[in-house]
Amino acid sequence: ELTLKDAVGDQFLIGTAVNVRQVAGKDTNATNIVKHHFNAIVAENCMKMEELHPSEDVYNFKAADDFVKFGEENGLTMTGHVLIWHSQCPEWFCVDKNGKNVSPEVLKQRMKDHIYTIVNHFKGKLKGWDVVNEAIVEDGSYRKSKFYEILGEEFIPLAFQYAHEADSTIELYYNDYGMDNPGRREGVVKLIRSLKEKGLRIDAVGMQGHMGMDYPKIEEFEKSMLAFAAEGVKVMITEWDMSALPTVSRTANISDTIAFKKALNPYPDALPDSVSQAWNARMKQFFELFEKHADIVDRVTAWGVTDGDSWKNGFPIRGRKDYPLLFDRNYQPKPFITEMIKEKETN
Ligand code: G3I
Repeated sequence: ELTLKDAVGDQFLIGTAVNVRQVAGKDTNATNIVKHHFNAIVAENCMKMEELHPSEDVYNFKAADDFVKFGEENGLTMTGHVLIWHSQCPEWFCVDKNGKNVSPEVLKQRMKDHIYTIVNHFKGKLKGWDVVNEAIVEDGSYRKSKFYEILGEEFIPLAFQYAHEADSTIELYYNDYGMDNPGRREGVVKLIRSLKEKGLRIDAVGMQGHMGMDYPKIEEFEKSMLAFAAEGVKVMITEWDMSALPTVSRTANISDTIAFKKALNPYPDALPDSVSQAWNARMKQFFELFEKHADIVDRVTAWGVTDGDSWKNGFPIRGRKDYPLLFDRNYQPKPFITEMIKEKETN
């Protein structure tokens, strides 16, 4: 019986994010899917800054070590997510006790200690690290994060430099969302160039791939894949999921009128067939795009195992029930996956 990873073959790694419950063996149906269908994993949360390094003198490696053990026992290729990110960054990292930004020297030293310690801890276990996450905005400029406020654009090359110093064998990635956007595409291309001009290592760009029924445009996504590859890096789809619900603004008002709630959460119990079919068709189109460019795509990773695990439930509006992943709440593969496996079986 063919599996997803058999169907994908050696085109690229096929991965999934796993959560701590799954690593702890508290969701064995999901863990069986991981072992059966995927050959790569990434930790959904337990390798983030605030998880690994909650206060200056405290590193918490327990959950992440369990994740690595799970990966090793099952022969899965592992990626570290993430060394430097403005979000889920512990409060103490960039700001002193009075709420003032620390000096550039202090922040550099903290980044160095943080990156050295973490990269060293996992040496030999991971294929690569998401070194910096979500630092470029839609007009191609740098996100005005604390890291940027304090160090300017230098914080990115510094992070890549420290990671390489800590482990010269590990692959290093820049990861971001909304990569179909032309402005961000330009910004990321410039970033790759500037890292390379400085002689720094960057192996791949991670295109998160959080999608909806009306975004991104497949042509724009493809343009970005090709633009990054043209700079001499590999491309990875690192956090793939596709909301099946109408796109609503993050800032939409939460109202308690029943009609409004229904508009925000139109299919709380089950997805109508017509929507499911459209979703599957669109997922298949993207999957075929990744296959078309298998020469530049190194890995495709889903952001969670089943619909029930997804961060998209409740996003951007609390209480929304979404259907964004490759396996449903009953641990069954979505039709486009089954079809793809069948097609490969007959070929
Ligand atoms: O683990 C705690 C739990 O102990 C506590 O009781 C509970 C109460 O809120 O929170 C739990 O932590 C939550 C964690 O997910 C685990 O469920 C955090 O509040 C919540 O903020 C966190 O959300 C994660 C989010 O990143 C922020 O780190 C999502 O699961 C995760 O899917 C999402 O992933 C990000 C990528 O890292 C970067 N790209 C975007 C992507 C989607 O937002």
